[in-house]
Amino acid sequence: MIYLDNHATTRCDPRVVEAMLPWFSEHYGNPHSGHPLGQEANAAVEQAIESLAEDLGVPADSIVMTSGATESNHLAIIGACTHPRQKRRHIVTVTTEHPAVLDVFDVLETQGFRVTRVPVAQDGEVDAGVVDLNRLADAIDDETALVSVMWANNEIGAIAPMAEIADLCHQSGALFHSDATQAVGRLPVDAKRVDVDLLSATAHKFYGPKGTGLLVVGNSNRRVRLRPLMVGGGQQHGLRSGTVNPAGTVGIATALRLCSQEISQNAERDRSIRDSLWSSLNSAIEGLRINGPAVNRNPAVNGDSRLTGNLNFRLPNLQGQAWMAATPGIAFSSGSACSASEAKPSHVLSALGLNDSEAGSSVRLGVGRFNSIDEIEDASNQLIASFRRLLE
Ligand SMILES: Cc1ncc(COP(=O)(O)O)c(C=O)c1O
Repeated sequence: MIYLDNHATTRCDPRVVEAMLPWFSEHYGNPHSGHPLGQEANAAVEQAIESLAEDLGVPADSIVMTSGATESNHLAIIGACTHPRQKRRHIVTVTTEHPAVLDVFDVLETQGFRVTRVPVAQDGEVDAGVVDLNRLADAIDDETALVSVMWANNEIGAIAPMAEIADLCHQSGALFHSDATQAVGRLPVDAKRVDVDLLSATAHKFYGPKGTGLLVVGNSNRRVRLRPLMVGGGQQHGLRSGTVNPAGTVGIATALRLCSQEISQNAERDRSIRDSLWSSLNSAIEGLRINGPAVNRNPAVNGDSRLTGNLNFRLPNLQGQAWMAATPGIAFSSGSACSASEAKPSHVLSALGLNDSEAGSSVRLGVGRFNSIDEIEDASNQLIASFRRLLE
């Protein structure tokens, strides 16, 4: 199986697994216990959090460990909007966010919050999928409590202009939350430099373990108040009760450190593998159309508005799911998400202006650390062969 689904999850790096192993059955203390076994677990957690803080450009006490980005998004958005001192009742997000943000906004809407969902640049534009800054500026007013914009999109790889968005939010006194799940580990993410107030991430998207995530709450520029969603033991400054997971925390910190150390080589490798995959497919199959920001721009000249490892395109005359079924040797995903028994077109592709049939004929290929150039040649040969078979 050639794995080209690195936006869904990534393989845990063996170096990360090795760092985690002692924290299961060798050093198994509860990091909140006062005896030596607890203290050593606590020291490992603290050291891991220091390392995360350094890599994200934030103070260590602004990091809250969670079970993943879904939980981090809930804590950030619900926690900030429903804090007793938060009097504003308007919240803003973007149509292409992950359901772990959009559905939280829907819940707050049922509780009386006014919600604005800002559109993105449409299919065919160079920055298709990137939030429209003029529309975002128009949406934010002095009643806006929080604005949530993802750093990079999980389907089409569109990267948001983070510093400009932070400025717009802070001019109106609104908090800026970013679901940075697809950006952390892939792009240099410095929460203080871009002045994001709340930032969500999850280890399994950057070669760390599943089930461990984090939320950055404030940075050294600004303090942020949250109402905790989980109460109990009062761990993590009372913001997230429950025993902190030492193995997971060591794992996410090791994974992020490796990404930080290797970030430019990784980006270059992902870009060259992605570009070679795209050029082989594009020259063998007529009529492919990119979904999202343009591929193959020169980042030194134009700036990059697409994750380097991301490819999302639509096919002529073929459903993405049929292509997937006909290419069992390759793990990738289609533009339809199966929910219960029906296949629904992706809301991200619909937000770009694609109709249901265009969304259904779309696929996402995501390359990553463990893909080799030889493997990619094999993958494109398999994909081209199955495409031709299907159209025979
Ligand atoms: C952009 C984005 N946000 C949130 C999530 C949810 O992450 P987790 O599985 O850690 O809850 C994902 C993962 O699919 C994602 O891609």
